[in-house]
Amino acid sequence: MVKIGNIELPEFPLLLAPMEDVSDPPFRRLCKAHGADLMFSEFISSEGLIRDAIKSRQKLDIFDYERPVGIQIFGGDEEAMAMSAKIVEAVNPDLIDINFGCPVKKVVCKGAGAAVLKDIDLMVRLTKAVIDSTNLPVTVKTRLGWDENSINIDEVAERLQDIGVKALSIHGRTRAQLYKGEADWSHIARVKNNPRITMPIFGNGDIDSPEKALEYKNKYGVDGIMIGRAAIGYPWIFNEIKHFLKTGEKLPLPTMQDRIEAARNHLTWAMDWKGDKLGIVETRRHYTNYFKGIANFKEYRQRLVTTDGKEELYKVFDEISDVYSDYEFA
Ligand SMILES: Cc1cc2nc3c(=O)[nH]c(=O)nc-3n(C[C@H](O)[C@H](O)[C@H](O)COP(=O)(O)O)c2cc1C
Repeated sequence: MVKIGNIELPEFPLLLAPMEDVSDPPFRRLCKAHGADLMFSEFISSEGLIRDAIKSRQKLDIFDYERPVGIQIFGGDEEAMAMSAKIVEAVNPDLIDINFGCPVKKVVCKGAGAAVLKDIDLMVRLTKAVIDSTNLPVTVKTRLGWDENSINIDEVAERLQDIGVKALSIHGRTRAQLYKGEADWSHIARVKNNPRITMPIFGNGDIDSPEKALEYKNKYGVDGIMIGRAAIGYPWIFNEIKHFLKTGEKLPLPTMQDRIEAARNHLTWAMDWKGDKLGIVETRRHYTNYFKGIANFKEYRQRLVTTDGKEELYKVFDEISDVYSDYEFA
């Protein structure tokens, strides 16, 4: 069993990565239904939370059926981080995660996200500010370092653990790499094998199949795996990996009916959460992923992303179901 504070997770848990514009409640509900053991919100700006920005507020929505669930915040100012931790605590997540890994310019320019990797003292102060203002377990997600000449994840891990961080998720890339090249898990393994480190270490980066999950589990010895992009439009990845780790056998691929059901549920749950109009518009970006690689699907994809009415959309799903009832996935 893996423990984060008092949260008990199964042996070798599979985590859904925080992903902006993706890891919202309807998507998380699908991932939970398909085996995710711990999930995170999209990252939320600490300054946005304090300003009471609507976009930041909405990202705080969590539901009991998705527990354990963490809310992720980012920022470069100690006071703002402490205040936002209090706001987050009020919605009662199971933990607060801090993002020190986001590479995008608009975040880094403000001295937040991966920028904090350039100043470990600041990272420690920001993290301590959060820990001191909440009773919830605090975890961190970060990268290996700013660039290949400044990989500092070993020191980061020790110093964060020393001030009370309860788990660390490491994306095996530097900020400079963005999403290019391959994630290098050897650095993650070194942190995990450091005898000083007792908090759980979760590996992240490029896991996209049961085989790779097994290979990386054995090779790098991490406490669990965090999965991001491979779950987009494919929440089945979690149970596929679990089944393979347990039995050495692959589950059958999700059928067309499974994919239609997932996309339909995604739409329904998005409408339940945000109302019909917004739910319909916000689910559009996901359809391509659920129906990836299907021959001659263009017409249906087009209709899914242009139909405005809920009943009409459900009819499009029914039609897809009829037309593709025998479709075989390779
Ligand atoms: C669309 C998208 C949005 C992301 N947003 C966040 C975020 O809000 N917070 C965060 O810590 N990482 C974010 N990430 C990084 C992922 O959590 C993860 O570290 C990265 O995608 C590598 O894992 P993967 O190879 O399994 O996708 C995002 C990644 C993507 C693709």
